[in-house]
Amino acid sequence: MNIILLGAPGAGKGTQATKISDKYGMPHISTGDIFRENIKNQTEIGMLAKSYIDKGQLVPDEVTCKIVEERLSRDDCREKGYLLDGFPRTLAQAEALDKITKIDAVVNIDIDFSLLMNRLCGRRVCRDCGESYHVSMLQGATTCARCGGELYTRKDDNPETVQSRLAVYTEQTAPLIDYYTKKGLILNFTGTDDPPAVLFGEITAELDKLAR
Ligand code: AP5
Repeated sequence: MNIILLGAPGAGKGTQATKISDKYGMPHISTGDIFRENIKNQTEIGMLAKSYIDKGQLVPDEVTCKIVEERLSRDDCREKGYLLDGFPRTLAQAEALDKITKIDAVVNIDIDFSLLMNRLCGRRVCRDCGESYHVSMLQGATTCARCGGELYTRKDDNPETVQSRLAVYTEQTAPLIDYYTKKGLILNFTGTDDPPAVLFGEITAELDKLAR
């Protein structure tokens, strides 16, 4: 199965993606993670991406599409398909993707924006394994319960940048819901503050039908 995860910043794409890719044994491809890895390693792409990400803007389509095309050409994507998290985010990216692959389903997590500012500004991420926490659950802990790594706040998780990310989502990414609805590929879900396992159950009930 080749799956896309769509949703506003903080909707829970990354949280669900980890679980879905574990269940179906497919690679989880997050363009945000790829850019952050490049920033950490101070590559040319990383330096370019940083200048956009820190402002809450999208990295240019040509750069992003090239990275994804290269990633999808690897062997692991041919075995059980793949899960795209955070790509495509513009109509140009969606059209470029159509030229190189066939998508089986688009999982869209629709969420009330009022939940997102608190989720994102309170998020702490493990530097080593990438696990996410909310500061309200940490009781002062500064290390990851899973691997002991240091927890940090993403530079784009501050009120001003989150506002900008949400505006960019509304303007450039939300139109993809219509694009994939017309293709008959959309599976719609509602994101809430219920435990992530609830949404995971709903999503996999639908994906199981496709996997059969
Ligand atoms: P990216 O890393 O993709 O960020 P994003 O889309 O803004 O999404 P997030 O990672 O912030 O949120 P998420 O939906 O994954 O939610 P999560 O599961 O972490 O992209 C970053 C930047 O890179 C972009 O702004 C852009 O500049 C650039 N970029 C990336 N892709 C690009 C592209 N295709 N084109 C151009 N530029 C691109 O959850 C959020 C928080 O909520 C966590 O703390 C989590 O623990 C918590 N949470 C999750 N589920 C629940 C729940 N059910 N209840 C309570 N809390 C929950």
